[in-house]
This record gives sequence, structure tokens and C-alpha cells, in this order.
Amino acid sequence: MKSISVTSTFSVFDSREDLALEVNELMGQAIKIRKKAYAPYSKFRVGAAILLDNGKVVLGSNQENAAYPSGLCAERVAIFQAGAIYPDAKILKIAISATADDKEISDPIPPCGACRQSIAEYEFRQDVPIEIYFMGAVGKVYKSDSLKNLLPLMFDKNFL
Ligand code: THU
Repeated sequence: MKSISVTSTFSVFDSREDLALEVNELMGQAIKIRKKAYAPYSKFRVGAAILLDNGKVVLGSNQENAAYPSGLCAERVAIFQAGAIYPDAKILKIAISATADDKEISDPIPPCGACRQSIAEYEFRQDVPIEIYFMGAVGKVYKSDSLKNLLPLMFDKNFL
């Protein structure tokens, strides 16, 4: 038996003001759309803003359902919308902001496992890394240079 070690590296910004202007603006759009989330059950609101290589920005917020698993995360609402409307565009950056109705979250909130797998499909397909920025409502922003950091040993079409 031997061990392998898989490491991930993230950049940490003390606040969104430390981001490049374009990214700060993208995060601003994620924060704005987060406020429109339909989250009556969890009261946890997430917003995602995607910048495409054609300059368009596609937005998403989490959409819940009384049958809980029928709801969808903000990241997948946004990325599926981008794939549906601009199937030939490459995804350059995704900004994510999340918070709860009853407390302001200051920890960076990363995308869930299912969203990571969904983002992986697009990164693999376009063969260009996707920058992912995530934060709470305030506080630090984490940046991943590629989805691969968030999903080591990822499953992709090469295994099929
Ligand atoms: N949620 C997201 O929108 N994105 C994630 O990556 C994690 C969770 C949503 C799903 C659900 O509406 C609420 O947050 C609580 O899990």
C-alpha cells in the first residue's frame, strides 16, 4: 500500500474590494441576484453570476420546492442557463455569494458537490479552466483557478 496526496490551492482575498474591478462587479451581480432567491424552506440564499467569453453575464439563484430534492442550487440554475442560451460560449468566471435570512454569513460558501460535478462538465467540455470566486454575504472571498481544485479525482467522460 502507498499513499497519494492531492492538494488544492486557493487565493484568499480579505474582502471583495480587494478583487479586480471586473470580478468585484461580477460578485456584485451575484449578491444582487442572491436577494431574489426562492428559498422559503432553508431561508439560505445563494446567488451566482457567470461571465462568458462573449462578454455576457448569466445569473442564477437557488430555487426551492416543497418536494425538497426538486429544488436547484444557484450555481446550476446559472450554468444550465448559460449552456442553454449560449452553448458555444466559454465560461470564464463564476462568482458566488450566499447568506442566511436570520444571520449574515461571513464564511466563504463553496459550491456543493453536485454543483462541482456540473461545473466540471463545462470546464472539461471547453478545455479552459473556470475561475470560481465564492464568499458569504461579507468577508473573505476564496478564489479557485479551476474547478479541478474543488473536485480532486473528478469523474469525467474519459471513464465512460
Ligand atoms: N445551495 C445552493 O444554491 N448552492 C450550493 O452550492 C449549496 C446550497 C442552496 C440549495 C438550497 O436551496 C439551500 O442552498 C440550502 O441548502
